[in-house]
Amino acid sequence: MDVISLLKGHRSIRKFTEEPIDEPVITDLIAAGLATATSSNLQGTTVIRVRDAEKRAAIATLAGGQTYVESAAAFFVWCADLHRSAMACEMAGGDFHAGMTEHFIIAATDCALAAQSTVAAAESIGLGICYIGGIRNDPTQMTELLELPEQVMPLFGLCLGWPDQDPAVKPRLPLSVTLKDDRYDQSNDQAGIEAYDEQMREYYKERTGGKVDRTWSADMSGLLGKESRPFMRDYLDGQGFATK
Ligand SMILES: Cc1cc2nc3c(=O)[nH]c(=O)nc-3n(C[C@H](O)[C@H](O)[C@H](O)COP(=O)(O)O)c2cc1C
Repeated sequence: MDVISLLKGHRSIRKFTEEPIDEPVITDLIAAGLATATSSNLQGTTVIRVRDAEKRAAIATLAGGQTYVESAAAFFVWCADLHRSAMACEMAGGDFHAGMTEHFIIAATDCALAAQSTVAAAESIGLGICYIGGIRNDPTQMTELLELPEQVMPLFGLCLGWPDQDPAVKPRLPLSVTLKDDRYDQSNDQAGIEAYDEQMREYYKERTGGKVDRTWSADMSGLLGKESRPFMRDYLDGQGFATK
């Protein structure tokens, strides 16, 4: 399959077979991800593969009972990492200026881009994936569980395995809303969102045999209409990130 069709055909997989993934394949997928462009060659990503069954169970629970964290053939935690770069500063006899929001953005961006390259590589060989942002329900417990030092933050998990389901591709907002020319022109946004709401309503109905009648706008209002993980700023401060 060509790369564009592969990317457009992405869908998250939440049910996996028990078939393992060959170890060299796993290593290669992570190496492919880490070959992604990285801001100033900082390489602000550390990937922790969680093999220990008890740790996986604990993560599945703190992520809100996401059982596929345990059943996926492989599970990784992708961490934004400035710790190693701080060490490099010291090795070079220089200073590390801790707590810069900009540095945190760099590491988080690096990490997300690298993960997505691993995802694309994995999907290109027929594997299924599911990101797990639910690990941020309890970043402190994640930090203890994985013994993360300061300047390392667990951004999201990633389940990898052979798909045992074949869900439909979830439609995205129309490009009339998300792709703009030269300026932030909002004139098509409301109509585009209304059309997408109807498309998502149909998608959910089809996916759930008519049980779910929801729109994207309603989803957003449920998600963004309330505080979300309000402990995050204190957590970031505690890890030495994002204080100025
Ligand atoms: C950073 C990130 C975190 C996510 N966290 C979760 C999660 O905790 N649990 C889950 O089931 N899906 C999670 N997802 C998957 C999204 O729900 C999914 O990508 C989105 O609904 C679009 O569906 P699709 O991936 O099938 O196209 C996450 C996706 C991303 C990018």
